[in-house]
Amino acid sequence: MKTFSRRNFFRNSAITALGMASLPASVKAMATDYKRTVKIGIIGTGNRGTSLLRNLLLINDVEIAAVCDLFQVRVEDAANICAKAGKKKPAIYCKDENTWTEMLDKEKQLDAVIIATYWEYHAPIGLYAMNKGIVAAIEVPAALTIDEAWSLIDTSEKTKVPFMMLENWSFRQDNLALLNMKRLGMLGEIVHCHCAHSHDCIDHWFFDSKTGVQRWPAKYLLEYNRDQYPTHSVGPVLSWMDINCGDVFTEIYSTASASKGINAYMKRKFGEDHPNAKIQWRQGDIVTSTLKTKMGKTLVINYDMQLPRPYANRWMLQGTMGIYDEEKKSIYLVDKSPEYHEWEPWQPYEEKYNHKFWAQKSSGSHGGVDYVMLKQFVDALREKKPLPLDIYDSVVMSAIVELSGISIAKNAPVPFPDFTRGKWAFKKPYFALDEAIVG
Ligand SMILES: NC(=O)c1ccc[n+]([C@@H]2O[C@H](COP(=O)([O-])OP(=O)(O)OC[C@H]3O[C@@H](n4cnc5c(N)ncnc54)[C@H](O)[C@@H]3O)[C@@H](O)[C@H]2O)c1
Repeated sequence: MKTFSRRNFFRNSAITALGMASLPASVKAMATDYKRTVKIGIIGTGNRGTSLLRNLLLINDVEIAAVCDLFQVRVEDAANICAKAGKKKPAIYCKDENTWTEMLDKEKQLDAVIIATYWEYHAPIGLYAMNKGIVAAIEVPAALTIDEAWSLIDTSEKTKVPFMMLENWSFRQDNLALLNMKRLGMLGEIVHCHCAHSHDCIDHWFFDSKTGVQRWPAKYLLEYNRDQYPTHSVGPVLSWMDINCGDVFTEIYSTASASKGINAYMKRKFGEDHPNAKIQWRQGDIVTSTLKTKMGKTLVINYDMQLPRPYANRWMLQGTMGIYDEEKKSIYLVDKSPEYHEWEPWQPYEEKYNHKFWAQKSSGSHGGVDYVMLKQFVDALREKKPLPLDIYDSVVMSAIVELSGISIAKNAPVPFPDFTRGKWAFKKPYFALDEAIVG
């Protein structure tokens, strides 16, 4: 088996960028080394880590070489899942909260590490991995503070090791079809966008559903008042608005409602005397952030994870030639929609402008989206191409966590850092380019 040289990774990325057409056949073969097994480690084999593991095992020539968790039963379960799938059992690491350093020190052959731990470990592990020359793929959010975000950028730029946040909603079939249409200019010049993460997570993720006891993310609801989870809403929006590739966020202004949902849920389900029914939670139920861009676009993001409601992302994209509304599953396009100022169904557009990532039907978690994302990630590692989502987009999505908290506390807009350090002005769109549709 061929070994993976990181120097070659970047040299070959450059070759890909220069264009394959002009290269001799022998060099093309080198740059598209399809046969190589991709070796991946996973740190954090809880719900999400195990789900990602199952999706990775569906991809040919992926080896899960090492797994690490705080709980022995979880790493053993992960190893057994690999064995049951007919794959090699990974090396197991499980001692304490720092054992991941041992794993990354020893497992020098890893092509990439997936990090699906508690939030506070995401950036520290990503930084350590990049310093070891290992590609880091971090669950959401990649960073909790602006300092962490800058450290990730500085380290990736210094080490030249690629980094990606695993923002799966950027890879949804509807969102990618809309991206194709936006790139064809069908919505005209983009002016405004809305998105939300409306997902009642009080009844399962923040708290134990049977006892109401706090799970690890609940401590953030006690300590902070901010958009705790912005990446699923804002992920697809970045490329619709050309953020970091032609435009850049300049300012964020966030407000929070009162916190009523957690206490009400606890009283309703577990009674007035449950300890979590009485606590004063800092986190407001609905956070609304308004962001402005250099080119005059606006974006509204809602955090909405504490009130009883059906799941929604409420994506809406509005330009000079039309409007898309995900919740209505509708679109209106000037000169194309049959009735003047009337919605028409979205589905035929999704089929007509289907993105190449969805050329094959996908199954698995989150309606097949996770597999699509991981397939693109693994293919990029295997073919030594740039990762599907880059570090700048990853930290911009994550930075909303701390910035929204600062803005709420000040009751004032705060500047949004330009993490590209001016590169946004000439950086070309790169995410999910679909040459067959957008020529
Ligand atoms: N993209 C998505 O759709 C999606 C969905 C759910 C969760 N997530 C993200 O995935 C991450 C994990 O969430 P989850 O729901 O799986 O939580 P979880 O509690 O089920 O799993 C987290 C695991 O990480 C392990 N862990 C924590 N710190 C560690 C450390 N220092 N070293 C080794 N292992 C450690 C824990 O033991 C646990 O098994 C979170 O960041 C969350 O935001 C993403």
